[in-house]
Amino acid sequence: MRENPFRTGLEQSRRSEPVTVVIFGATGDLTRRKLLPALLSLFRAGVTRLQVVGFARRSWGTEGFRERAHEYLADAPDVSDEQRSAFIQTLTYVESSFDDEAGYRNLAEGLTGNCLYYLSTPPASYEAIIHGLGRAGLAEDGDGFRRIIVEKPFGRDLASAQALNAVLAEHFREDQIYRIDHYLGKETVQNIMLMRFGNGIFEPIWNHRYIDHVQITVSERLGLEGRGNYYDSSGALRDMVQNHMFQLLTLTAMEPPTDLGADSIRDEKVKVVRAVRPIGADAIESHTVRAQYDGGRVDGEPVPGYLDEEGVPAGSHTESYVALKVFIDSWRWSGIPFYLRTGKRLRRKVSEIAVTFREPPLKLYANRHPTMNRNTLIIRIQPEEGITLRVNTKIPGYTFDMRPVNVDFAYGSAFGAATLEAYERLLFDAMVGDSTLYTRRDEIEASWRFVDGILAAWNRSDRPPHRYAPGSSGPDAADKMLTADGRRWRRL
Ligand code: BG6
Repeated sequence: MRENPFRTGLEQSRRSEPVTVVIFGATGDLTRRKLLPALLSLFRAGVTRLQVVGFARRSWGTEGFRERAHEYLADAPDVSDEQRSAFIQTLTYVESSFDDEAGYRNLAEGLTGNCLYYLSTPPASYEAIIHGLGRAGLAEDGDGFRRIIVEKPFGRDLASAQALNAVLAEHFREDQIYRIDHYLGKETVQNIMLMRFGNGIFEPIWNHRYIDHVQITVSERLGLEGRGNYYDSSGALRDMVQNHMFQLLTLTAMEPPTDLGADSIRDEKVKVVRAVRPIGADAIESHTVRAQYDGGRVDGEPVPGYLDEEGVPAGSHTESYVALKVFIDSWRWSGIPFYLRTGKRLRRKVSEIAVTFREPPLKLYANRHPTMNRNTLIIRIQPEEGITLRVNTKIPGYTFDMRPVNVDFAYGSAFGAATLEAYERLLFDAMVGDSTLYTRRDEIEASWRFVDGILAAWNRSDRPPHRYAPGSSGPDAADKMLTADGRRWRRL
């Protein structure tokens, strides 16, 4: 078996004490797709001794849970049958509704040592579970730690996020609470900080004097994938911008922390969120674009339009695409636009941050190259994780013709292995008590405050969402937002 250097890093440097992971909503999709595979991988890597308890309403029983786990994990990479079976033997199941005290008493009976609770249910059940744990005495550190991971969505506006934070704070201390954002588990996202602060060459030019603008893109090819009910009550702004895109924004824009402590880093991130200029009614037309995809064909296959997706009510104004022009009112970023765009049913799945630098001060080559490309540093989060610098280069020959070329670093070829799954890294961090890659209360509330302002302005406007063709790069209105500033989106 080929060694994975990312996992080797995890194995060599850090280990967790034995821990019991209790998954609330163990019969759900996230458990199948992400949590069980990530836990199996941690088990296989031997970084911790693990027990897993599923807690859910369906009457699966321990045997039923184990049988399904066998099915879900049948194709797990890099594990032997023995390892898989040994992991599945650690699984047990508590059948209970989330507001039934007896269920928590049952759970408490078998529970000793360190416990990590994972809320992976629909958010409507969070409050009942948090109270259930608290009232059963399961929130107090006893013979081991008690920690709780809360899945997204964490609220649907500032008020509901504050309410959820208040319920959590009734039973758990802040240092026991882990608000997950799986983007922070992505290797390349973690590398943003390391690249900026672990090298000497970037920081001196990482500011309004040398940078022209920044583009952050998270585009997806897929549509709603049967999640119409949830998605329509959310929309791209809540589903992607408030959390994932704001993480990318803060890591790109933050000041260097004084040390690598979780709170030192998160202090700097929250300062960025607070410095983001609110977008109110006066800027809503010029600084935001919301849109929905039409029906059509993608790769020859017919696909429904957003309004024809199951679970989407007629006449919905919920956006499947959003583009924003954001300013950070700080010394470093004064006057520099950050353009953010995210949407479903677009041409390609790509997540990247592109930092475009200003043109050289003297236009020596302007006569020959009136449209000379500006240097751009592209941090590719997915796919093909890596970093690319676009630099203008002389084309070989008798002239001084130039062309931009890529100076490329690809994770795959530099390290020869796939990166760790985000959930594996994040679960591990919660096990060892490192909350650096989790979102703090003040950060989440500050980002909701920004999002709420836009939602309110949209609600007051009677302009329906713009439209875009499935498989396209997005609506024309988003292109116009940039051309109005003399800029262009990077090609999707
Ligand atoms: C989730 C959103 O948080 O992130 C989904 O709810 C989205 O709508 C997903 O598809 C994207 O994650 P990734 O890792 O595939 O970029």
